[in-house]
Amino acid sequence: MTGHHIILLNEVDSTNDYLKERSYLGEWVAVLAHKQNAGRGRLGRSFYSAPGLGMYLSVLVEATEERVKFLTPAAAVAARRVVKALGADCGIKWVNDLVVEYDDAWKKLCGILVELRDGMAVVGVGLNLMHGEEDFPAALRPVCTSVKLEGGRLASPREAAAMFIRELQQALRDEEGVFGEYKAHCVTPGRAVEVRRTPLDLPIPARAIELERDYAMLVEFEDGRRESIRTGEASVR
Ligand code: BTN
Repeated sequence: MTGHHIILLNEVDSTNDYLKERSYLGEWVAVLAHKQNAGRGRLGRSFYSAPGLGMYLSVLVEATEERVKFLTPAAAVAARRVVKALGADCGIKWVNDLVVEYDDAWKKLCGILVELRDGMAVVGVGLNLMHGEEDFPAALRPVCTSVKLEGGRLASPREAAAMFIRELQQALRDEEGVFGEYKAHCVTPGRAVEVRRTPLDLPIPARAIELERDYAMLVEFEDGRRESIRTGEASVR
């Protein structure tokens, strides 16, 4: 079994930024924060981090060439396994979110942000654990949920972090298994999506068809043209 070491911080801007500045600490060193003042998501978005109620965790892993593309899916599968072990359920919204479906809309339970620095990857995970509805700002209530709100048991961020790191270690040893699990629980195929090649582009309506083996999403545009989306974003409408 691989070991790990978790640094506990009371307050930090972003656990990802903290570890990116300290990538020399080496593989399986992690940072768990009680409070994040500037938690970040993909594409410059922010991640709301209610103090003490969620797991705001970043983990350093070696970013070998064959691993890099696989890190976000492996982290998504690992986080989903933690959610399941705590007694709740969720799907994976391509490419990096865990979500629960409500009346044809998603509520987000967890987000993942993988960033590279000096040959290392920082795997950042924000998992809402103990939030009640009132713990989210009003604007986020319709689109966010937590393990508790989904009927799961209460777990401390420290417990969930140890579970996540163990699951991530296992996932990184089982690329085929992770693909099967990711595909089985990916809720994006069949959905209307909007493809944006850069955040500034106008969204192009399309339908997600299928997850491909390299984790690209095959989409079909309204004119029938099909394309594998790798670097652009396809977000569910
Ligand atoms: C997303 O929603 O696009 C990803 C959100 C990732 C949030 C986590 S919380 C711990 C780590 N530190 C950050 O600043 N972001 C990630």
